[in-house]
Amino acid sequence: MTLLLSRSDVEKALSMEDSVRLLERGFVELGEGRVDMPQRPVIFLPEKDGLAGFMPALVKEMGALAIKTVTAFKGNPKKGLPTIFGTVTLLDTETGIPLSIMDGGYLTAVRTGAASGVATKYLAMENASVAAIFGAGVQGVTQLEAICTVRKISEVRVFDTDRKAAEKFAKETAGRGPVPDKVNVVGSPKEALAGADVVATATTSPTPIFDGEDLSPGVHINGVGSHAPKMRELDTKTIVRSKIVCDSVDACLAEAGDLLIPIEEGAFKESDIYGGLADVISGELTGRENDEEVTLYKSVGLAFQDAVTALHTYQKAKSEGLGVEFDF
Ligand SMILES: NC(=O)c1ccc[n+]([C@@H]2O[C@H](COP(=O)([O-])OP(=O)(O)OC[C@H]3O[C@@H](n4cnc5c(N)ncnc54)[C@H](O)[C@@H]3O)[C@@H](O)[C@H]2O)c1
Repeated sequence: MTLLLSRSDVEKALSMEDSVRLLERGFVELGEGRVDMPQRPVIFLPEKDGLAGFMPALVKEMGALAIKTVTAFKGNPKKGLPTIFGTVTLLDTETGIPLSIMDGGYLTAVRTGAASGVATKYLAMENASVAAIFGAGVQGVTQLEAICTVRKISEVRVFDTDRKAAEKFAKETAGRGPVPDKVNVVGSPKEALAGADVVATATTSPTPIFDGEDLSPGVHINGVGSHAPKMRELDTKTIVRSKIVCDSVDACLAEAGDLLIPIEEGAFKESDIYGGLADVISGELTGRENDEEVTLYKSVGLAFQDAVTALHTYQKAKSEGLGVEFDF
């Protein structure tokens, strides 16, 4: 039997705290070479302004084997449909039987947040208390939740070019779980950054969203929004100022305009990248070294993150009687 899980089932089964713990372990598996994760293929449908991406991974010790399918069709909103659909198929590592097919939208947002949570745990100042979120969308919410899960945050600022989106974000996140009661909407990037200890950039912007000069010493940044070679949220100044830790150095060098554009400009070199998050977790690389340095976790998203989160979601859903069994 295959367990079908809707978005609301996934929401009930998957917590941020569990996800941070799982992803930390998953990154260790990645660093130890126990993850099989072929390069993700993408099929383009230009006449429909659409694309389909496929993200497979096996995390051996954890027994997680899954593939996420993500489609993005830009014409969908005109048809009253969301732009992006995602589903994860989880397979049994003993038999190959499909254990579960689940909604991938919420799962992606939680695992992307949780990965930033792990990075924040290892790279942000211990006493970080002010968080600034850029981009009040789906990812912004889980970035904030993850940051507040690993650090005692007492003040939150949110900036979005769409002020209404920022206001909705503030109303919906304030006081939720580990998030403090007050989430302040600010009117400029500079205002968001002044004195911020942890910053998350989770926008759809193709060009830099703030001036790297405005970052405070000691800040940690989670850069998650851009993952195409010609798009970037972070300016060259931010990249040059930062100690850069990637979810995967290879994947970031293939996809992250945040790094590729400064490299193209000659302002930055591949060898200036500090390393991968797995090496910081294992202690092979030192994380934060003082309260002055600017650290940046650059992520483009990795399939192993979906696989470990999907396995946990399936197990939790099964034990709680969630979802619908389907016999192929
Ligand atoms: N790194 C990863 O693993 C990963 C995973 C999932 C999504 N993403 C990426 O994260 C980005 C955000 O995704 P989402 O689902 O939250 O999108 P979304 O559409 O829900 O939200 C994006 C928000 O960014 C805002 N924005 C755009 N330009 C801005 C600017 N200059 N300054 C401030 N706000 C701005 C928009 O108004 C919008 O509210 C996308 O580019 C997506 O592809 C990355």
